[in-house]
Amino acid sequence: MTDQPVPQSNRYLAIRSVMMPRDTNALGSVFGGHILSLIDLAAGQHARTISPKRYVTKVMREVNFVAPVFVGDSVSFYTTTLRVGTTSVAVRVEVEAQRGVDSITTCPVTSAEVVMVAVDHENNPIPVFTATKG
Ligand SMILES: CC(C)(COP(=O)(O)OP(=O)(O)OC[C@H]1O[C@@H](n2cnc3c(N)ncnc32)[C@H](O)[C@@H]1OP(=O)(O)O)[C@@H](O)C(=O)NCCC(=O)NCCS
Repeated sequence: MTDQPVPQSNRYLAIRSVMMPRDTNALGSVFGGHILSLIDLAAGQHARTISPKRYVTKVMREVNFVAPVFVGDSVSFYTTTLRVGTTSVAVRVEVEAQRGVDSITTCPVTSAEVVMVAVDHENNPIPVFTATKG
């Protein structure tokens, strides 16, 4: 990967979503696959803030769920840029659940590194940044 200067970006709230009964597994807590799909979407949203291209997911690394998520939780997906390569953007996604009525508690749920690859309409990798003339 030919690393390019990483644009200065703070932690960015890519997605916040309230978990609904349709998002649950057979145990009644939220299905891990639902959280994975939102991690994927959050990474894609983040990549597009770096350079507005079409992206596909190449790698999703080390998703370790440390706490369950429940119906009614407000789940936030925070993203930061890890690396910008030639055709790829690596994004850290951190997931936190907020719950409670009289007092709100915030609970870390998981985090992941997601590598998104910029592609053309034939699904071939293309540079994240288009070279400028001059
Ligand atoms: C994404 C895809 C177009 C890449 O094609 P490819 O021939 O593997 O491309 P490359 O080997 O040139 O790798 C592309 C980029 O990914 C990076 N990459 C590849 N494997 C990687 C890995 N395991 N970890 C980190 N980065 C990786 C490469 O370093 C390169 O980035 P760079 O140009 O910034 O250095 C192709 O693999 C594909 O279509 N995959 C399916 C994507 C998809 O459909 N995802 C959704 C699944 S439902």
